[in-house]
Amino acid sequence: MQIDGQVALVSGGGSGLGEATARHLSGRGARVAVVDFNIDRASAVAADIGGFAVRADVSVTAEVEAAFAATVAHFGSAPRIAVNCAGIGSAARIVGREGELSIDLFERVIRVNLIGSYNVMSHAVLGMQRQEPVGEERGVIINTASAAYEDGQVGQAAYAASKGGIAAMSLPAARELARSGIRVMAIAPGLFNTPMMESLPPETTAAITANIPFPARLGMPEEYGLMVAQIIENAYLNGTTIRLDGAVRLPPR
Ligand SMILES: NC(=O)c1ccc[n+]([C@@H]2O[C@H](COP(=O)([O-])OP(=O)(O)OC[C@H]3O[C@@H](n4cnc5c(N)ncnc54)[C@H](O)[C@@H]3O)[C@@H](O)[C@H]2O)c1
Repeated sequence: MQIDGQVALVSGGGSGLGEATARHLSGRGARVAVVDFNIDRASAVAADIGGFAVRADVSVTAEVEAAFAATVAHFGSAPRIAVNCAGIGSAARIVGREGELSIDLFERVIRVNLIGSYNVMSHAVLGMQRQEPVGEERGVIINTASAAYEDGQVGQAAYAASKGGIAAMSLPAARELARSGIRVMAIAPGLFNTPMMESLPPETTAAITANIPFPARLGMPEEYGLMVAQIIENAYLNGTTIRLDGAVRLPPR
């Protein structure tokens, strides 16, 4: 699908990979709704790119519904491009050293990362199905998994489960939506230089960076934005998950 002139909605667009995606799509001529629960960040990005900022917690269905309604009211049409970048990266052992359980964290990570992505995807589909196709397609949905969906590290049971769910949704969603001309893809980033990285201890970041074969550096958020654009433009990409990771495979810890 051609990007120029389309309405795009990017969740988590206030920071990191989502911000880079919003900027890239805007640079390619899209009209971008920047959705984030951090409205200050979303507003700053939107102001910079001539986009539209909306506050929503992706894990709350009514807020996602309202964000789509506000986007339609602002741009005059529903998004044909939806990119899910909102997510959290909390880590905890299944049973901690003192015997404490981490079920609360597990539920929260699944709720934000997996159910949040599903929520945005559902509302995006609804809006796309109501529009006429552009050429052979009605829309493209891109969800963000993680290399951890395949190589989850110690402490990442919740995170890896949430990202595994996102990767696993791509094919059944693409199959279901084929009749509507809507594609569904996921990107599984390796290690990217975003504010989320700052939550990791420096020794963890250094250890993981040392494991990246080539290019031997963190990924740049702009490279994620570029991948999003490449997926949108290539109509034959559908129903799968692309690792974007410099060939890194995460070690156990
Ligand atoms: N940075 C990496 O190395 C990396 C690697 C693999 C996967 N990812 C995934 O990429 C996505 C983006 O990560 P990032 O590094 O850009 O993180 P980030 O923290 O820089 O940005 C995430 C954004 O999502 C927003 N957000 C979080 N929870 C939200 C919610 N419930 N509702 C609405 N907005 C919410 C935050 O406010 C923030 O602006 C995440 O899903 C993350 O798991 C990142």
